[in-house]
Amino acid sequence: MQKGIYIVTGASRGVGEALCRSVLQRGHHVFACARSANPELECFATTTLGELSYRSLDLGNYAESRKFMDAVIRHARGAGPPTICLINNAAQLSPVGPAETLDPQEVAAHILTNLAGPMYLTSSLLSAVSELRLNSRVTVVNITSGAGKSPYFGRSVYCAGKAGLDMFTRTVAREQADRNLPNRVFAVRPGVIDTSMQTLSRNLPNEATHDRELFLRLKRDGKLLPTDTAAELILRTLDDPRVESGDIVDVRELYPDDVAL
Ligand SMILES: NC(=O)c1ccc[n+]([C@@H]2O[C@H](COP(=O)([O-])OP(=O)(O)OC[C@H]3O[C@@H](n4cnc5c(N)ncnc54)[C@H](OP(=O)(O)O)[C@@H]3O)[C@@H](O)[C@H]2O)c1
Repeated sequence: MQKGIYIVTGASRGVGEALCRSVLQRGHHVFACARSANPELECFATTTLGELSYRSLDLGNYAESRKFMDAVIRHARGAGPPTICLINNAAQLSPVGPAETLDPQEVAAHILTNLAGPMYLTSSLLSAVSELRLNSRVTVVNITSGAGKSPYFGRSVYCAGKAGLDMFTRTVAREQADRNLPNRVFAVRPGVIDTSMQTLSRNLPNEATHDRELFLRLKRDGKLLPTDTAAELILRTLDDPRVESGDIVDVRELYPDDVAL
């Protein structure tokens, strides 16, 4: 089997770490990043047939992201793998609270991570594949949320970022399709998952959000998806013939038997 290249952001914990583990077990080369290191993941990688290149970086820092993508492209040029998959998974929830309480610098940092970062990685990958005429088919999977579709009190920045990511997904897919290019771009709503983002949601003060009780109940009732299940469902979308470029899909609708909410 020829190794594919998977680029996974937000690999220090949560869904991103689970995605990396799963892809490594399948024997692929994973280029992973987050601000924090993940020595457990690096250790795990050595027990698999896969390969891990992990870089600590802040997606809000364009120069750091560029160095990361340069390393990916250098590798792709040498190896010429048929598959390059970028999974834009990293995200932050903060700042949370009604719009009049938002700090502009925190808003800017959020948008850099949740929207401008994925835009830059997508753009630089598509541009390199086209300019260098790499014989690779690119798939970009943007991890989104129901918050990109429905408003939630106190989460205007997160909702706006995810809505922006959804529209970016649809527009880039249209650009690729209009020129008969083979690259696919779609977005996945991964369900409600037992990660530190959920812990934060359960611990926010009532004046900041109005959905704390919902998240407390989901945790109490054992309704949160384990990270490895979420990762498997996200990866399943890659080979699911029902998922088309430009789609915004929800794992709860695609795989209702695996996500019993
Ligand atoms: N958990 C849920 O219920 C849920 C529901 C719907 C959608 N999602 C989406 O699923 C994805 C994964 O979420 P999660 O629950 O796994 O979140 P998480 O546990 O909070 O992990 C977020 C990851 O993103 C990284 N990250 C955050 N800011 C970054 C930055 N500036 N630069 C680089 N990396 C950064 C974090 O690493 P560092 O802090 O080390 O940088 C971490 O690895 C996100 O897109 C989220 O919006 C989650």
